[in-house]
Amino acid sequence: MLWEHSCPRFAIYNSIFKSKSQYVRKSLIFEPIFGIILFMTKTLLSGVKPTGRPHIGNYFGAMKQFVELLNKGEYECFFFIADYHGLNFIQNREEMRRLSLDLAIDYLAIGIDPTKAVLFKQSDVSAHTELAWIFDTIVTMPYLMRAHAFKDSEAKNKEINVGTFNYPVLMAADILLYGTDVVPVGHDQKQHIEYARDIAQKFNHAFGVTFNLPDPLILENVASVPGIDGQKMSKSYNNTIPLFATREEITKAVMGIVTDSGADRPANVYNIHKLFKSEGELKSLYDSNKGKYKALKEALIEDIDAFIKPMRERRAELAKDEERVLEILKDGAERANKVASAKLQEVKEKIGVL
Ligand code: TRP
Repeated sequence: MLWEHSCPRFAIYNSIFKSKSQYVRKSLIFEPIFGIILFMTKTLLSGVKPTGRPHIGNYFGAMKQFVELLNKGEYECFFFIADYHGLNFIQNREEMRRLSLDLAIDYLAIGIDPTKAVLFKQSDVSAHTELAWIFDTIVTMPYLMRAHAFKDSEAKNKEINVGTFNYPVLMAADILLYGTDVVPVGHDQKQHIEYARDIAQKFNHAFGVTFNLPDPLILENVASVPGIDGQKMSKSYNNTIPLFATREEITKAVMGIVTDSGADRPANVYNIHKLFKSEGELKSLYDSNKGKYKALKEALIEDIDAFIKPMRERRAELAKDEERVLEILKDGAERANKVASAKLQEVKEKIGVL
């Protein structure tokens, strides 16, 4: 019991063995070996807000790395749909349901294997919001006012809602509940990880060591995916190529790539092309088609389509079977809840409500 409280991995380990058959539970060899492996495995966690169709900038900037990190097998991975964060800007039942489910399908279609990772919806694990409240009582307003996101909306004279103001606190709860060691993020999210670390330290100081301090795992190339106009690819610039685009959508987007004066090797075409083929592979194509925008764009359409096709097909299959996706989320929620509720129980004991 004491172990379980000081080490989140023990809670995972215990929950697995408590749920398995007596035969496994009594296995004298398997259990300790499994235990050692689990103790050595680090925990990785990431949340994504349900914001609608992802584009290839999202994919090369973060989603692809999630799959790679999962497949490396070095981490126990938790991926969740940050729907309660999304509630700050989605205030429509149908939209919320649609966007959350779509995001689950996206995760699965890019190759997140739900038997390897725990894939769940934030709102299915109520420990997130409960812990956020507990953190609210030790976090000060001036401290939250230093958050970039808050300062930005202040600068724009926006009347910020309390949920957005409190965003870093809920995010700290998301991370700290799972004993997370690393959080893969772009530079823009670094401050949020610092908030989680500060809040963990503050709590540990006040109530005794409870939380592991997470580290950001910075995904370096987040900024380097250019859109069809050469600026950073972003929905707000209207310059994206959707990740699961149909051939027609790919064609339309590529034909819309802004012609630059780069002459021989049109930079806006080339910089997107580089994502799909190595520079070595592209050399002869670009050397033999100097300045021929049409031919180069046609080659780019082929390469994007060849890359996207398998994912697009997988996505279409999954979208046909929503029941299965909901089942996966339900299973993920159960697994997440086991870990999160053990941690919350420990917190509640420490603060004196249990
Ligand atoms: N803030 C993240 C984003 O905007 C989403 C998020 C919420 C998150 N909770 C998290 C990311 C916990 C990592 C860990 O993309």
